[in-house]
Amino acid sequence: MNSQNISIIILAAGKGSRMKSNKAKVLHSISGKPMLYHIIKESKKLSDDITVVVAHQKEAVIATMGQYFDDINFIEQDTENYPGTGGAVMDIAPKHDKVLVLNGDMPLITAEALQGFLTMEADIIMSVFDLKDPSGYGRVIIRNREVEYVVEQKDASDAELNVTTVNAGIYAFSKVILERYIPDLENDNAQKEYYLTDIIAMAKEDESSIVPLFVDEEHFKGVNSKKDLAQAEVIMQNRIKDRWMQNGVTMQLPDTIYIEEGVLFEGECSLENNCRITGESRIIDSHIKAGSVVEQSTMQNSDCGPMAHLRPLTQLTDTHIGNFVETKKATLNGVKAGHLSYLGDAEIDAGTNIGAGTITCNYDGVNKYRTIIGKNVFIGSDSQLVAPLTIKDDVMIAAGTTVTSGTVESGNLVLSRTKMRLIKDFYYKFFGKR
Ligand code: UD1
Ligand code: CA
Repeated sequence: MNSQNISIIILAAGKGSRMKSNKAKVLHSISGKPMLYHIIKESKKLSDDITVVVAHQKEAVIATMGQYFDDINFIEQDTENYPGTGGAVMDIAPKHDKVLVLNGDMPLITAEALQGFLTMEADIIMSVFDLKDPSGYGRVIIRNREVEYVVEQKDASDAELNVTTVNAGIYAFSKVILERYIPDLENDNAQKEYYLTDIIAMAKEDESSIVPLFVDEEHFKGVNSKKDLAQAEVIMQNRIKDRWMQNGVTMQLPDTIYIEEGVLFEGECSLENNCRITGESRIIDSHIKAGSVVEQSTMQNSDCGPMAHLRPLTQLTDTHIGNFVETKKATLNGVKAGHLSYLGDAEIDAGTNIGAGTITCNYDGVNKYRTIIGKNVFIGSDSQLVAPLTIKDDVMIAAGTTVTSGTVESGNLVLSRTKMRLIKDFYYKFFGKR
């Protein structure tokens, strides 16, 4: 794939009212990243001149994209005076002679799927698909294999509404055409908006060549509602999981597994059903058992679950984490924590066993404190480790102990229990023989 001689304009200024949300539509997430992120990422493979048109919540859109990209141009649309997709392109200044215009609500697009726009030659190439249910989309009227015009649903006659060929929302224009017709756009339509799609009929009138490019919904689906968002998520998830399975990751019941864009696997990894892996997690030669959640964490030669929760900044190396164990900001190296524990703000070294029900008490209601545990330590079940705390190598903590001493030196046993009493036959005295 190549071609640096195309400019890309991404329309991201709209409100997205059909999402019924306060958040700008293009910032809604698919597989852990905003829709607009996915489009820009793919666009960068094709162009060195990318402009994003913003208006609604522009500060949030610019700031969010700034976290990922540093070479994108933003221009602001005057949505007050020039609303609509035509208004969005009023102030663009593309560098190249060919201009690809993408709706910002098409998160499934890939550089590969856009190849046709780069290789075909015409004044305007527009993406179309045939849908059983075309509702919501602009209808495309095609005659003799050329596009005549596009009519929005709200402006369409009954006959036009029956057309099932729709505008997918991506176009390649020659810059000359854009520059000639943008100033002539008008807003005499049902929505009182300036429609980019009106350029088609104007250009057709002047005998420009306007070719439809039939595309698939799998890559060109537009997201307008929460239902569309959920459907796009399924497609993106399948893509991500197919890619990792091709790279050798084993998945049981992949339909039940969720993996965000940004997660990386290496070596031999296997995932049981219903697990969720998010953020920039790195999973290396590891096994994640059923129902576990791994967030922004690293696992190397380790296993967790079923039903484990690795919260952000957990780092496991050669470690076994069992069921109902929660970790957070915890570095475990050669550790076994088999059951029912909370290990937060902790650093635990090789050969150490964490008994069932161990809790690092890392929070005093105001501040967080660290627990550092050395090598070959045995923490008995149901222990509370009150941080800040350092337990050196070769220490035993007896079951049920609350460790409050700050530092435990090597070789020691810590035990805090009230002395056990045995009262003979008390049961029978209390309840009588039953
Ligand atoms: C648009 C097309 C329609 C097509 C559909 C495909 C027009 C007039 N209609 O309709 O033919 O079938 O896409 O999905 O173009 N935007 C702006 N500024 C605005 C309005 C919108 O930048 O003033 C952006 C939005 O952020 C969005 C994109 O343009 O990313 C499309 O806007 P949207 O309102 O979703 O257009 P549709 O009604 O879906
Ligand atoms: Ca749309």
